[in-house]
Amino acid sequence: MVVPVLTIDGPSGAGKGTVSRAVAKLLGWHYLDSGSIYRSLAVAVLAADLDLHDIPAICQIAKEMSLEFDCGEQLIVKLDGRDITGQLATEATGNTASIIAAYPDVRAVLLQKQKDFQRLPGLVADGRDMGSVVFQDAKIKVYLTASAEERAERRYKQLIEKGIDANLHQITREIEERDQRDQQRASAPLTVPQGAHYIDSSSLTIQQVIDQVVNLVD
Ligand code: C5P
Repeated sequence: MVVPVLTIDGPSGAGKGTVSRAVAKLLGWHYLDSGSIYRSLAVAVLAADLDLHDIPAICQIAKEMSLEFDCGEQLIVKLDGRDITGQLATEATGNTASIIAAYPDVRAVLLQKQKDFQRLPGLVADGRDMGSVVFQDAKIKVYLTASAEERAERRYKQLIEKGIDANLHQITREIEERDQRDQQRASAPLTVPQGAHYIDSSSLTIQQVIDQVVNLVD
């Protein structure tokens, strides 16, 4: 029996996480936040104080790490039994994740961990290469984006609301750098998958995006 997959790819800050989680909940499907797998590896690599160029050592950690995901209201991630949820969202983790995600050998090790999420009754998979590499046969593919300025502003507001000091110019620069790295890497670059529905969320509310995506599923 074929397990249906809905992929949602796009750059960071486009609202993929919120939209994917809400759509998975509405459909009663499983949810894969593939970025959190790369982020978890980044947490492990930072904790081990590894040189970010030491690809064999990073791959070794990727092979050995055990990850547990609890995708309830809030995603909880355990790395080797330890709750690392609080460390996943930091800029340092995100930037490290983006650096190590550029290595093909690292991506190869993490491929099966992502494929294992494809279970009945269905899967909503969010990331950069869900529709182009990991779930190429997905029934429905979405590419969700927004302008870099809009994404930076959303991130800035989130941080300020959490009481975290933030600088809009710096966030915009980091978002542009990360986009560039994700789009220009040789292995599984961020791209609009063939046959994907392209949604620009710059002037849409989250609810409007959720409605558009859910309407794609019959
Ligand atoms: O989506 P998120 O910001 O959590 O992803 C963190 C980083 O992990 C991204 O910048 C990207 O480099 C990498 N990533 C990836 N492929 C995915 C998901 C995330 O390369 N499918």
